Amino acid sequence: MGHSVQPGLAVCGFAEQLSPWFHAPSDKNPNDVYVGSVILPGEELRAHAYVKVFPAEDRGQLVYNEVMGHYLAMQCGLPSPVTFPCACQTSLLRGASAATIAAESSSAFVLGVASIDGSYKEMKQKSSATAAKWADIMNWPHVARVAVFDELMGNDDRHLENLIRRGLHDYALIDNERILFGERWFDLDLITLQTRRCDANILADTIAEGTDEMMRQRMVHYAQHFVMATLLSVPEMSESLEQLCGARAGTTDRLVEMLNCRRHILPSLMQWHMQKGDLFQARTNR
Ligand SMILES: Nc1ncnc2c1ncn2[C@@H]1O[C@H](COP(=O)(O)OP(=O)(O)OP(=O)(O)O)[C@@H](O)[C@H]1O
Ligand SMILES: [Mg+2]
Repeated sequence: MGHSVQPGLAVCGFAEQLSPWFHAPSDKNPNDVYVGSVILPGEELRAHAYVKVFPAEDRGQLVYNEVMGHYLAMQCGLPSPVTFPCACQTSLLRGASAATIAAESSSAFVLGVASIDGSYKEMKQKSSATAAKWADIMNWPHVARVAVFDELMGNDDRHLENLIRRGLHDYALIDNERILFGERWFDLDLITLQTRRCDANILADTIAEGTDEMMRQRMVHYAQHFVMATLLSVPEMSESLEQLCGARAGTTDRLVEMLNCRRHILPSLMQWHMQKGDLFQARTNR
């Protein structure tokens, strides 16, 4: 079906109203973000959500990454706002994206991804000071588990804006666009990614470079027990998601199988971050 969408597919929601969400442009992610009102898949329910659309060449891969990343985070017991493919009428997009992102589309719709607003307005951080947010995040009980989860998923894009603040020391994960190291992996042999280190795992490096020995130990502990004990499974909606995203049938089986094998080397992958952290500490203590 190319990457245009037929609204009404069971796993796909649709956007009712969208306003551009202006944020600092990223070199890593060529997308366009909106905020507005969406209808959830297969339901009459309406929600306030962030909606992303992508250029045609990577669209299927990136929508798939976003949605599958959400399902796998949930399987690992990590907070992630409901995320689903979302049909967006091109007339709702701002002029510039309608002209580029949706230019090739012969359909009146373009496939995007919606993520239900996960922040609580009254809890939004007053100060945007990075140091204050880091201090808050480092006291979030899930932080070490997320560091291990990001290593598992090869998510090299966990900057502070990809953690949504829900309360004091309480966050949700968003933005799974760059799982598997930002590779366009649909056509790759996944064995090539199975043992790759996630050098840009920012939470792992921050914990490893820190002086909180309990936290450092906790990260190693989670690598040994938490993620390894969580056998990932293929979510029910995978077949529909694969079709919608132009992925070959069985793509999710391949992914889940690879990740379940990768779980076994998490202890050594996290140990590698710890060694980098020790080197960092040695340098800064000089
Ligand atoms: N579910 C959500 N709840 C609250 N805010 C959100 C949500 N999804 C997105 N946002 C807001 O929109 C911003 C951009 O979304 P997102 O990170 O998915 O896009 P992005 O362009 O890939 O970002 P970047 O490339 O900078 O990481 C987020 O930093 C956040 O402020
Ligand atoms: Mg982001």
